[in-house]
Amino acid sequence: MEVSVQNPAGGEEPPVPEKLAEPAGAPLLADDKVLVSENDSFHSERGTLCYSQLCSLVIPKMLEKRSLSYTDGPVPLPNDELFLLENVRRVQICDSDEWVQNHGILLFWQVKPVVYVYQLSEDGPGEELSGDDMFASFNEWILPAKEFDGVWESLIYETGLKQRLLCYAASALLFTEKGVDPCLVSWNRIILLHGPPGTGKTSLCKALAQKLSIRFKSRYSQCQLVEVNAHSLFSKWFSESGKLVAKLFQKIQEMVEEENNLVFVLIDEVESLAAARKAALSGSEPSDSIRVVNALLTQMDRLKSWPNVIILTTSNITTAIDIAFVDRADIKAYVGPPTIQARYEILRSCLQELIRTEIVSCSQGHERVMLPTYTTLRGTPSSTTSQEFPHSLDVPKLLLEAAEVCQGLSGRSLRKLPFLAHAAVANPYYCDVIKFLQTLLETARREIAEAPS
Ligand SMILES: Nc1ncnc2c1ncn2[C@@H]1O[C@H](COP(=O)(O)OP(=O)(O)OP(=O)(O)O)[C@@H](O)[C@H]1O
Ligand SMILES: [Mg+2]
Repeated sequence: MEVSVQNPAGGEEPPVPEKLAEPAGAPLLADDKVLVSENDSFHSERGTLCYSQLCSLVIPKMLEKRSLSYTDGPVPLPNDELFLLENVRRVQICDSDEWVQNHGILLFWQVKPVVYVYQLSEDGPGEELSGDDMFASFNEWILPAKEFDGVWESLIYETGLKQRLLCYAASALLFTEKGVDPCLVSWNRIILLHGPPGTGKTSLCKALAQKLSIRFKSRYSQCQLVEVNAHSLFSKWFSESGKLVAKLFQKIQEMVEEENNLVFVLIDEVESLAAARKAALSGSEPSDSIRVVNALLTQMDRLKSWPNVIILTTSNITTAIDIAFVDRADIKAYVGPPTIQARYEILRSCLQELIRTEIVSCSQGHERVMLPTYTTLRGTPSSTTSQEFPHSLDVPKLLLEAAEVCQGLSGRSLRKLPFLAHAAVANPYYCDVIKFLQTLLETARREIAEAPS
């Protein structure tokens, strides 16, 4: 569960508390309360309340007053909480689902909220150009960054993948923190996500870094994400490549030397490194390229000794990737195409957004309509559902049909589908939800039929 709180006016960072609630990913508490976390982005304008007071008093009190149950999503700020109204941009509950059995409800007495307060950086990426062909050799963000806000929530996997990654990272940082001897227990802080194109691997890496930057803010006051452009490292002037790698890691090294800095290094499409290495070994590429890959591996090994760095990598190759590089990864998680439930949820979130923005209209004045989740739809007898969703069952039914038709489409294609459907409706300025969903179905069928085999 997350609560995010932010001052729209911006300003100084709030003081960082000595200790921030319990560590992330903690299990059920002894008193049978579920430990959930809440993220806040916050700025105390008048300094009347400090960060820790907000975490431990104001937000929990507000939540207690407000709700009998907890479900993921934004929490409206009460009109009588002036301090919050003035200083807080958003309060959001998240990650409560991991504790909910059979998609039930978390009641207030089962919950011990953990509040995280953060302020989003609006700086955007800083780029470093590689010189000769002006490719950026890496991008750098200060985390948590505005552009990754909401990405974690938008990624839908049925398999508990997100939770697994979060728990892994929490353990890795804890082992380091406690000084576990790496000769006795070894861990590398390297994650590899592999799977077909468009399944959200890169987005998930960035969202994970963002999430961890928020959860570990009490330990690491600064967080950075460095996205390495692996292609650009293979400069067309190979002799330059070695220098580029050295320069890049010199920069990362400087970041990690600051012990309050948590650094995430994202190397996308690592298979390009593998390919270069293989080609070099077979003699079809200049031997310089193998030097670059080796330099990269050496530098990564060097980085391993620093406790405050996590390396995130992605690859499109789904079969065994046999490079020395991959061996180093602790977690090699397969990210597959979305299941029926994920497809339904992706399309549902798209439709919900189009209704919110009034691009798609509901004839019964459903601006605030909540479309049923997949589980609700599957779990409720149809008579109840049609009462709850007075637009009859047509909308959820059509949405489900579309999700079924979309089997085989990637998450990326699914998120594009509503746009393509809108472009295909007869009157784009008046788009009724039923008509829209029918067009969505036709568009989905066409996309599937036209997809390259
Ligand atoms: N499971 C999913 N749930 C929600 N959105 C998804 C999912 N999978 C992909 N997407 C959406 O698809 C878009 C593309 O994702 P991303 O670029 O991270 O995929 P990728 O796996 O890195 O692709 P590639 O292998 O081509 O680099 C993102 O905007 C993301 O929101
Ligand atoms: Mg990618």
